[in-house]
Amino acid sequence: MREIKVPDIGGIRVPIIELLVKVGDSVAIDTPLITLESDKASMEVPSTHAGIIKEILVKLGDTVQEGDAVVKLEEAQSIQTTQTVQAQQTPATPTISKPVEIAVTSTQTVAQNTKSLQTNTFNLANTVNNTLPADITSSVNLDDTIYHASPSVRKLARELGLHLKRVTGTGLKNRITDEDLKSFIKQALQTGSNNSTNNSTAQANTSLAGLLPWPEVDFSKFGQTQSKPLSRIKKLSGANLHRNWVMIPHVTNHEQADITELEKFRVQLNKEYEKQGIKITMLAFLIKAAVAALKQFPNFNSSLQGDDLVLKQYFNIGFAADTPNGLVVPVIKQADQKGIVELAQEMAELAKLARDGKLKPDQMQGGCFSISSLGGIGGTYFTPIINAPEVAIMGVCKASYQPIYNGKDFEARLILPMSLSWDHRVIDGAEAARFNTYFAQVLADFRRITL
Ligand code: COA
Repeated sequence: MREIKVPDIGGIRVPIIELLVKVGDSVAIDTPLITLESDKASMEVPSTHAGIIKEILVKLGDTVQEGDAVVKLEEAQSIQTTQTVQAQQTPATPTISKPVEIAVTSTQTVAQNTKSLQTNTFNLANTVNNTLPADITSSVNLDDTIYHASPSVRKLARELGLHLKRVTGTGLKNRITDEDLKSFIKQALQTGSNNSTNNSTAQANTSLAGLLPWPEVDFSKFGQTQSKPLSRIKKLSGANLHRNWVMIPHVTNHEQADITELEKFRVQLNKEYEKQGIKITMLAFLIKAAVAALKQFPNFNSSLQGDDLVLKQYFNIGFAADTPNGLVVPVIKQADQKGIVELAQEMAELAKLARDGKLKPDQMQGGCFSISSLGGIGGTYFTPIINAPEVAIMGVCKASYQPIYNGKDFEARLILPMSLSWDHRVIDGAEAARFNTYFAQVLADFRRITL
C-alpha cells in the first residue's frame, strides 16, 4: 500500500477545500486527489502513482503541509501482482492474464475518461464561444486570481473565455464549483444575448437578464474622481447579495418590540458581569428570541431544495458583523443550548475574529437564520437581504423611547424597530406577521421563552 503525500508547497500549511476522489476510485499518475487553497491561489495535489484508492487520510477543511499523507493507494503494479498470485494459487481461475487486464483497464479507463473529457470540453468550448453573448466571452484577459475555484474549473473557464467574476460560487468560501460553472454556461446558453461587447460585470449581468445595459458614464466630465478597488469581502458578499436579491422574492414586515423591561434586565446583568469583563448587548437576547421563534414557526428554520423544504432540527444563528473590509456573517452554533451570557461571550469573540479578518470558513457556515443589528449605529427600519439558503432574516435598528398609550395615558417605553425579510416562496404574509408578533412578545416579556 502506498501513501500519496503533499508535495513541496512552499513550506506553508494550507486548507483542503475539495476532495476529488473517493475510496474505490481508480487513479492514474497525475490524477488530482485534493485541492488546496491558500490566500492567494488554489492547487491540486496529483497522485504520484496509478492504482486504486483504499483510504482517504484527510477530510475537507483539514490543513496540510508538505509530507502529510493524503490517501492510501493500492498500486496498479501490486494489484496485478496480488491477483497474479491468486490466479496462480487457484486452479479454477480461468486465466492469469486477467490481473494485467485489470491494471491496464483501470489506467486505460482514466486515460479514456480524460480524453473524452478533453473532447467534451473542446466541444463545449466551441459551442459556448459560438453561442454565448460577446460580452461574456470577451473577458479572457481579466485577472481571476481572487475567485476561488479549482485549477480544472479555472482551466475550463479560460478555455471558454469566461471570466470567473461572472459566476456565483456556491461552494466552501464561495468557491466556484464545477457545477456552478456548468449551470452558468447552461443558463447563458439558454438566455443568449446580442448585446454590446463591453465586458463590465454589470453590463454582462443586465444583458443576461434582458435588462438595459448598465449606464457607462465618464464621471471625470463632472469633477475629479478616484478609483478604489472593492475589497475581497465586498466582492464575495456582493456576488452573494446580488444572487439572493435577484433570486429570492423578498417581502419585509416591520414590527415594534417593547423592550423596556428587557433593557432594565440587560443593564442589571451587565452590572453583575462587569467584573468578569462580560458585556451583554441586545443582540444576545435577539439570538435567544430568534431560537424561540424558529421553534414556534419551523418553516422559518428551513431551506428550499428543489421542490422540497428541508426543515432543520438544529438552531444555528448568524449575525451580520460590520468589518473594515465589509460585511461578514459569523454563525453561533447550537444557540438553543446556550445561555445569554455564553451567547454574548461567543458573539463578542466571533465579532472580534471577523473584524481582524480571522474567521474560519466553518465559523460562517451552517446558519439557519440571520440577524442584522444596526442598533448600535442608528436608523429606524430597513429591508435586510436574506442570506441564502436561509429563508428569513431579522433586521433591528436603534431602540428609542416612544410615547405608548397604555389605555389611560401615554407612557415612555423603549421601542425596538424590527424588520423581518422572508422568502415568499416558503412563507406567507400571515405567517410572517405571526412570527414577528411572537418575536416581539418574547422580547417584551422574556419569560415567554420558558413556555
Ligand atoms: N438599540 C439601542 N442600542 C443598541 C442596540 C439597539 N437595538 N443594539 C446595540 N445597542 C447599543 C449597545 O448596547 C452598545 O451600547 P453601549 O456601548 O452604550 O453599551 C452600542 O449600541 C454598541 O453595540 P455594538 O458594539 O454594536 O454591539 P452589538 O452586540 O449590538 O452588535 C455587531 C455587535 C458585531 C453585530 C455590531 O458591531 C455590528 O457589526 N453591527 C452592524 C451589522 C451590519 O452591518 N448590518 C447590516 C447588514 S446589511
